[in-house]
Amino acid sequence: MSKLVKMLTVGADSADSLSVAEYEKIGGFSALKKAASCTPEEIIAEVKKAKLLGRGGAAYPAGSKWEHLLHIEGSPKYIVCNADEGEPGTFKDRLIMDKLSLKLLEGIMIAGLVFSAKSAYIYVRGEYRKIQKRLISAIENVRAAGYLKNGFDIHVISGAGAYVCGENSALLNSTEGRVGRPRIKPPHLAEVGLFLQPTLVNNVESFANIPLIINMGGDNFLQAGHPDSGGSKLICLSGHCKNRGVFEIPLGKLTLRDIIYDAEIGGGIADGKKLKFFHLGGQSGAIGNADQLDTVYSYSDLRKAGLSVGSGAVVVMDESVPVIEYVKSVTEFFIDESCGKCVPCREGNRQLLKILQELSEIAATKKEQLKTYAPSVKNKLYRLIRTMTDASFCGFGQTATAALSSAAKHFASEFEGETK
Ligand SMILES: Cc1cc2nc3c(=O)[nH]c(=O)nc-3n(C[C@H](O)[C@H](O)[C@H](O)COP(=O)(O)O)c2cc1C
Ligand code: SF4
Repeated sequence: MSKLVKMLTVGADSADSLSVAEYEKIGGFSALKKAASCTPEEIIAEVKKAKLLGRGGAAYPAGSKWEHLLHIEGSPKYIVCNADEGEPGTFKDRLIMDKLSLKLLEGIMIAGLVFSAKSAYIYVRGEYRKIQKRLISAIENVRAAGYLKNGFDIHVISGAGAYVCGENSALLNSTEGRVGRPRIKPPHLAEVGLFLQPTLVNNVESFANIPLIINMGGDNFLQAGHPDSGGSKLICLSGHCKNRGVFEIPLGKLTLRDIIYDAEIGGGIADGKKLKFFHLGGQSGAIGNADQLDTVYSYSDLRKAGLSVGSGAVVVMDESVPVIEYVKSVTEFFIDESCGKCVPCREGNRQLLKILQELSEIAATKKEQLKTYAPSVKNKLYRLIRTMTDASFCGFGQTATAALSSAAKHFASEFEGETK
């Protein structure tokens, strides 16, 4: 029996996914019609029952976010869809925008109804040029079919290639035409968001799940997943597994072993090699090793194991990859993408790379010295990690060391010349 599910991805195989008529044939826009006869409170009650956790990375409960915004005074309220998807190894929002754009728009329109909004913005990663065009066509089709009512409209905004613009406050600055750097919080974006107005920011996959929740009911959505978080999750498999791509899995029903080794999902490690480690949730997520393969893929089980769902990325690495080289490349990514606003992140990442370079040179040329050298480096490394985590201005710098810390824990022999 297949371990995969088809909930969110129903309709992804449509020959014409931009056609409103085709979408209506599979129940498209029925959730919007249903929502139009409900009160905002009734819609939010379903989202809360569904226990939909935000799919953008931070896993914040969508229902609570919506409820909080509903009770905030002020209008207009804005709806913003985070489609920046700059996270390496993450490409599931691209699939939704490409193949399920009408479902995404329906979710955004339901949010528009709840908050009596007039404008929604989809902030799309700059590199997704074709996707941006397809989204604009999808919006035109929805408008022509008469679904965009009461002055409500949806706009597509292009990012310009900065990873930090995925952070929700930087994204709002960039949408307003300012430099894409994070804002200080509080005030929270729900209160002072886009153009300083109350604003809802959700990820593409979060919005695309809304029609499903309204159609099947929050309780059924919850049951299809894990008691702590309903529904399915789109995961992005890449690296050294045999099969790579986007897969829809039920939350809480599969283990990491299922994901990496099931013939229909990862298919095991390519070229007859062994698994060395996997990196979950994006560059700011932790690395796990083979001892953790029986961890259930749910938000709470992964968290207990020191891992995270994050963006849904599952990067699989085989035994040939030196872990220090891998975390060096992660750190280089953070150096390139740091917005430079605060010292712990801007300088901290550079210092981390220096230390990692020293370590990898010693490991490659004078392995026997690693044990003597390691304690002082370890201290330097851990002090730096703590400073960056505690003192960085935004989530970027606060989580930039997650891969490094977890790698140093699981692969102490490579970092410190110790055996596990
Ligand atoms: C550096 C950084 C990059 C981020 N990139 C993205 C992104 O590309 N897409 C996304 O949806 N959320 C991203 N986030 C998370 C957002 O700040 C925010 O939590 C999310 O858009 C909220 O939507 P959700 O609750 O539906 O997940 C990022 C956060 C940080 C700190
Ligand atoms: S932690 Fe600081 S330097 Fe790094 S991205 Fe955030 S604001 Fe910019």
